[in-house]
Amino acid sequence: MDKLKSFYKSPEKDFTLLLGDTFKLLRKFDFKFNMIFADPPYFLSNGGISVQSGKVVSVNKGKWDRSHGFEADNAFHKQWIELCRDKLTDDGTIWISGTYHNIFSVAQALTELDFKILNVITWAKTNPPPNLSCRYFTHSTEFVIWARKYKKVPHYYNYALMKQINGGKQMRDIWVMPAIARWEKSCGKHPTQKPLALLTRILLASTRSGDWVLDPFTGASTTGIAASLTNRYFLGIEQEKDFLELSVRRRKEIEDRKIRDRYIKRLHDLSYVHPSNPCVFEQRSEYVTDIPWD
Ligand SMILES: C[S@@+](CC[C@H](N)C(=O)[O-])C[C@H]1O[C@@H](n2cnc3c(N)ncnc32)[C@H](O)[C@@H]1O
Repeated sequence: MDKLKSFYKSPEKDFTLLLGDTFKLLRKFDFKFNMIFADPPYFLSNGGISVQSGKVVSVNKGKWDRSHGFEADNAFHKQWIELCRDKLTDDGTIWISGTYHNIFSVAQALTELDFKILNVITWAKTNPPPNLSCRYFTHSTEFVIWARKYKKVPHYYNYALMKQINGGKQMRDIWVMPAIARWEKSCGKHPTQKPLALLTRILLASTRSGDWVLDPFTGASTTGIAASLTNRYFLGIEQEKDFLELSVRRRKEIEDRKIRDRYIKRLHDLSYVHPSNPCVFEQRSEYVTDIPWD
């Protein structure tokens, strides 16, 4: 197989971006990742309205987020999850985010494809936008399903670190965190950018330093930035060039030591990541040199 041409590769070769359709690109290389985080289209851009920074805005995230109907949306999720399954190590895990619009379809696809669902994290937002119609409860949660590839192959979970971060009590499956903050948009905006706090927790819980992480719908590459801040290797796939350019600006921004340190200080969970903490384990493996992208 020919090597894929990357849109961007960091000088350290630890952060790579591919431009194109994830359904096509995932078929074009053979590589196993320890963990996949995916924030796929939720298919909720249906002309509704919401509130952002005090202003009424249309819920229109982009063409990529429009539903194509129940059957087509289900088929979409099943197909990309199946392609991702092939990219996981045997003990690898996948995290998939969503709301009620897509999460049940994702859960069904995972079950049909023989994954074992480990947890469903509820991200309870501290600052959700108000419900304008006053005919529903305020929507204030998103879900992240965590599943492993095989029912019988054990996965990695840093139980001790999660307990430490949670003040000495077992970390529960409800994570109370604010929606994305303004400081995370210093390089530009993506309409559905995830907060770094969410991604750093996911990475610290389910990967070791030196692990390989894939994001097949990388957007502004929050997963990649969190991977860089926690010393994991990252590959992101995205079909929109503008979003990849934003990803590159974000990655270059944290090459400035002062900015990187400022980010680390703002991310509560990262204050536990230091060499003297026995709950933070050493690198799992050496850097793989046989990589199918240039
Ligand atoms: C929900 S957003 C991801 C946001 C990301 N988690 C972040 O924090 O910036 C989903 C992204 O998937 C991209 N996308 C949708 N369908 C795709 C496809 N078939 N191939 C590649 N990218 C796709 C969209 O352009 C969008 O940027």
